[in-house]
Amino acid sequence: MNTILQATDIHKSFGRGEARNHVLRGLNLQVRRGEFLAVMGPSGCGKSTLLHILGLMDQPDRGEVMLDGETFSRAAARPQRLRFLREKIGFVFQRFNLIGVLSGRDNVRMSLHVRGRRDDEHVEALLDQMGVSAVAHRKPGELSIGEQQRIAVARALAHRPGIVLADEPTGNLDTDNGLALLDLLRRINRRDAQTIVMITHSAEASDRADRVLRMRDGIIKAE
Ligand SMILES: Nc1ncnc2c1ncn2[C@@H]1O[C@H](COP(=O)(O)OP(=O)(O)O)[C@@H](O)[C@H]1O
Ligand SMILES: [Mg+2]
Repeated sequence: MNTILQATDIHKSFGRGEARNHVLRGLNLQVRRGEFLAVMGPSGCGKSTLLHILGLMDQPDRGEVMLDGETFSRAAARPQRLRFLREKIGFVFQRFNLIGVLSGRDNVRMSLHVRGRRDDEHVEALLDQMGVSAVAHRKPGELSIGEQQRIAVARALAHRPGIVLADEPTGNLDTDNGLALLDLLRRINRRDAQTIVMITHSAEASDRADRVLRMRDGIIKAE
C-alpha cells in the first residue's frame, strides 16, 4: 500500500487539571495516495483538531504524523514542519477564509504568490474546472456562498499539494451547492489522483468517498 499520510497513536488534550479535555486518545489513521477519504463523527469529537494535526498546523501531545515519507513528532523542527505544510498541504475551511479585499482570482493567485510562485495558466485552468472563471473577477462578498467555496477549493489546489484536507467543506452550503461541490471534489480526485481527506456530516459526502471512517471517543472506530 502506498501511504501518503499516516497518523500513529495521536493524543491531544486542551486545558489543565479539572478542565482537561482529552480529545484525541491514541488515534491511528492511514491514507492511501490518490484516495478520497471521508471522516465522520459527532460535533465536538475532535475532527477539526485531527485535521489540523494531520496538516501539521497543530502538534499532537504524543504520537507521530508521517506525511509523504517524512515523520513529524512533537520534537520535529518548526521550520521543516512549516515547509512541509506550505508545500504539501492544501486546506479547505468550512468558512472559506477568503481574503475579502481581493478578487476570487487573486485569492487563488495569492496562494502561489506567498510561496514565491506564479502560474496564471494553472490558476485559470482551476477556476475553469471549478466553474467560476466568469465570476472570479468579483470579490468574495459579491459571490454566492457556493462560488466562494469553489474559489476556496481552487485556492487549496493552486500550489499542487500532495494532499487536500477539507474541514466540512459543505457545512455552510445548501443541499444543491453542497452536492455540486462534492461532485467537483470527486472529479478532481479521479482525474488528477488528488488525495483528499474530508471531514463531513453529510451522508451524500460519504457516498462519493472511497472510504468512510468514523471517529468516536478520540479514536477512529474499526472500519
Ligand atoms: N484551541 C482549543 N482550545 C481549547 N479547546 C479546544 C480547542 N480546539 C478545540 N477544542 C475543544 O476540543 C474539542 C474538539 O473540538 P473540534 O476538534 O473542533 O471538534 P469537531 O471538529 O469534531 O466538532 C471540543 O470540545 C473543543 O471545544
Ligand atoms: Mg470541526
